[in-house]
Amino acid sequence: MTAMQKQVSERGGNVAVNRSVVRGVGAYLPKRVLTNAEMQRLVDTSDDWIVERTGIRQRHIAADGEMTSDLGIAAARQALVRSGIDPVEIDLVICATATPDRTFPATAVKIQASLGISKGAAFDIQAVCSGFVYAMTTADNFLKTGQFKRALVIGAETFSRILDWEDRTTCVLFGDGAGAVVLEAQPQHGTRDDRGILAAQIRSDGRYEDLLYVDGGPGSTKTTGHLRMNGREVFRHAVQKISGVIEETLVMSGYAPDEIDLFVPHQANQRILDGIAKKLGIPPSKIMMTLANHGNTSAASIPLALNQAFEEHRLDEGSLILMEAMGGGFTWGAVLLRW
Ligand code: UT7
Repeated sequence: MTAMQKQVSERGGNVAVNRSVVRGVGAYLPKRVLTNAEMQRLVDTSDDWIVERTGIRQRHIAADGEMTSDLGIAAARQALVRSGIDPVEIDLVICATATPDRTFPATAVKIQASLGISKGAAFDIQAVCSGFVYAMTTADNFLKTGQFKRALVIGAETFSRILDWEDRTTCVLFGDGAGAVVLEAQPQHGTRDDRGILAAQIRSDGRYEDLLYVDGGPGSTKTTGHLRMNGREVFRHAVQKISGVIEETLVMSGYAPDEIDLFVPHQANQRILDGIAKKLGIPPSKIMMTLANHGNTSAASIPLALNQAFEEHRLDEGSLILMEAMGGGFTWGAVLLRW
């Protein structure tokens, strides 16, 4: 019996635990929109192929000089305003990104400084498309133990800078964007009815590193490199790995798939999400789909979808939210939280 299941079986008991409760969410998409029709002029592709195989209709592209930190700062500011928390109260800043402004220092410290925060810690997490799930899991562990009290968790990417714009198999899939949440440690009862993060699971398996990677880096080629992917193989692993970690996360927290109010997945491919939903029995009406508007924005895609759910009033206090992602590494994971 896991600790959580033990607590569930003792429901009504008053085990005081810290939970990471979402206080605010925000997002930012660059102004420039690149449609599928425009993509047709860049590479040998078609709107029909892109929509049918992926569900993507357009992507947003950062302006010259607009960096990952700029996107992250805009998303973070909106999340902070909505949280009602003064930035100086934040003591942990985590930025999930695979496209940092510089090799070092971390993009998170730049975001931290621009928000006027100079206490606590700020660092980046690099788990590519799973970055936001990894960052939420990491922040949750710091908040639960009481080491930090309020965390700003950001997913921000400028994938347009690492795409090979002559490779039609990858350049049509990705876009730029950022999303952020403010988490606060709050005492709860230690039951499955608590608000906040109820369970979080992360996984990786480096045997698959050559299926999705960037062919450069400061320690190898001394260049940034370009994204390379064996899409078919990634697809094959995605449904199975994501469904597996979701099932483990639900078992850990004592919930069944039909109890989820909203599924907020990483937005990579509509067909992957349809496959997962079918396997787990989640109806399409409960899935947040924002892929058509911004394509795959890697670590930014879950908080972008969460932000849209918030703006569409689909997140009521008490709603049970499931997030999941899979990306290069492979890395994958899931987070279950009550809004
Ligand atoms: O977020 C990180 C995780 N990443 C993912 O989850 C991505 C997972 N993979 C996928 O989403 C899909 O595999 C893709 C969307 C990348 C590709 O879809 P697919 O159905 O697996 O297509 P495919 O790679 O098997 O290619 C089918 C055909 C090929 O032509 P041939 O060899 O059959 O003649 C490709 O060359 O489609 C061709 N093709 C294209 N045609 C028009 C590949 N890209 C394009 C394109 N436009 N952009």
